[in-house]
This record gives sequence, structure tokens and C-alpha cells, in this order.
Amino acid sequence: MAALVTFQDVCKYYHMGDSTVVAADHISFEIERGEFTAIVGSSGSGKSTCMNIIGCLDVPSEGTYFLSGQDVGQMNKNQLAEVRNEMLGFIFQQYNLLPKLNLLENVEIPLMYAGVPRGERRERALAALEQVGLGDKLRHKPMELSGGQQQRVSIARALVGKPAVILADEPTGALDSRTGREVLSMLQDLHSSGHTVVLITHDNSIAVQAQRIIRLEDGHVVYDGPADAPEAVVTPRAADMRGREHT
Ligand SMILES: Nc1ncnc2c1ncn2[C@@H]1O[C@H](COP(=O)(O)OP(=O)(O)OP(=O)(O)O)[C@@H](O)[C@H]1O
Ligand SMILES: [Mg+2]
Repeated sequence: MAALVTFQDVCKYYHMGDSTVVAADHISFEIERGEFTAIVGSSGSGKSTCMNIIGCLDVPSEGTYFLSGQDVGQMNKNQLAEVRNEMLGFIFQQYNLLPKLNLLENVEIPLMYAGVPRGERRERALAALEQVGLGDKLRHKPMELSGGQQQRVSIARALVGKPAVILADEPTGALDSRTGREVLSMLQDLHSSGHTVVLITHDNSIAVQAQRIIRLEDGHVVYDGPADAPEAVVTPRAADMRGREHT
């Protein structure tokens, strides 16, 4: 069976007037079902560019992205929206919950787009909120919750559609360290229960909580391997520059 996510020489160019920014420069990797991968790198290294492509929010300028064997680059806007809805669950730094809707209604949204009937929607949203420990707050509005609780709602919303890939973009970025750890351990639980999780972060201490690290620098992959290897957390170029400052 094909890998779940396959990047083959993926490039992304942004044209700004006369100049071209190379945000992704021949990036290749595969992610198998059930893996927990962190894509890590400093600001501007190309993380969001990769996340947008994996999440079918954008397509490569060059190269190929296969999601579960389907060539995403060949899809039109409607097909991309359909694949997003069927195959991806998103968790954002700022939660992106709708303030006027209660928790049940927020979590039901992806199922509404998928055309799931009302009764089943309710049932599945309820189960997802129970899974993240918020079964007693179903009728609350997001603003009545703490940041960590709001992020748990967004995890429930990401899960409810039974996505093939859960994509989390800086999910702990807005949280204090203790709450951030809780959210991370929830992602680890999802991985343990068989989900495929891709975590995007600039923070090494968060990336090492994953199973595998793909490190980006200037749109290139500079490391791809186990998260617990020492090379996973050094930035070769930064180490190199520090060396030079002292000479
Ligand atoms: N829409 C755009 N138009 C022009 N340039 C862009 C656009 N989006 C990203 N870039 C450029 O592409 C490069 C990679 O950006 P990207 O957003 O992927 O970085 P990042 O790793 O997510 O950074 P951060 O940690 O700051 O979010 C940067 O040089 C950025 O300025
Ligand atoms: Mg980014």
C-alpha cells in the first residue's frame, strides 16, 4: 500500500513583484499511517508552507504530493475541499472556534459539511467531547472555557470526522507550559490509539515529544529521523555560525 503522505521533490514558489521566494525547495518524505511526526524549523523555514500543502489548502508549484495515493496537485478547488473534509483534521494555534456556537455545535461543524444527518452528528460530537474530557460542558460557549479547554474542543472537532491525518499547527503556541503539556499528551494519546498525527512547531522541546522529526531550514529538509536521536534537535547552521563568531 502507498504511504499515507508522499512528498516527491515538492517546491513552492511565491512571486513578489520581480523576485521569487522559494518557500519549499525539493522537499521529499513519506509519512506512514499511524506515525506521529513533528515538522520543525525556525521562522520562515517553510513549515506553514508544508502544512498548507499536506492539508490540501494549497498545491505544490512543482513536484508531487500524493495523499493516500491521490495526486493532490491535479485537483480543482472543489476536489481539494472534499479531500480536506474527508481526510484531514485541523488543530490551530488560535483554536478557530465559533464564539456564538456552543461546544456541541462547534464540534458538529465538520460533520455538517460532510452531510452527516443531525442525530448522528449530535452523537458523534458528544462522543468526541467526552473523549477530550469536556462531556460536562456541552452547552457552554468557547469564551466560557480556559485556553487549554478551548484547544481540547478544537481537538474534538479535528477528530470527529475520523480523518486520516490530524494536522496540528503550533497547537501549544498560545498556552502556558503546563496546559501545553496536557495538549501534547492528548496528541500522544491519539497517536497511541492509531491516529496519524503531524505536528508543526518551531519549538524543539515540543518536537521531541513526537516519534519522528522532519527538520526544515530555508525550505530544505536537513534532518528526517527519530525524535530521540541527538541530531534531531541541533540546527547545523546555527551551530556552524556560533563556531564562526568566536574566530
Ligand atoms: N503568501 C506568501 N507570499 C510570499 N511569500 C511567502 C508567502 N507565504 C510564505 N512566504 C515566504 O515563504 C517562506 C516560508 O514561509 P512559511 O510561512 O512556510 O514559514 P514558517 O516556517 O511557517 O515560519 P513561521 O514559524 O514564522 O510561521 C518565508 O520566507 C515566507 O516569507
Ligand atoms: Mg508558520
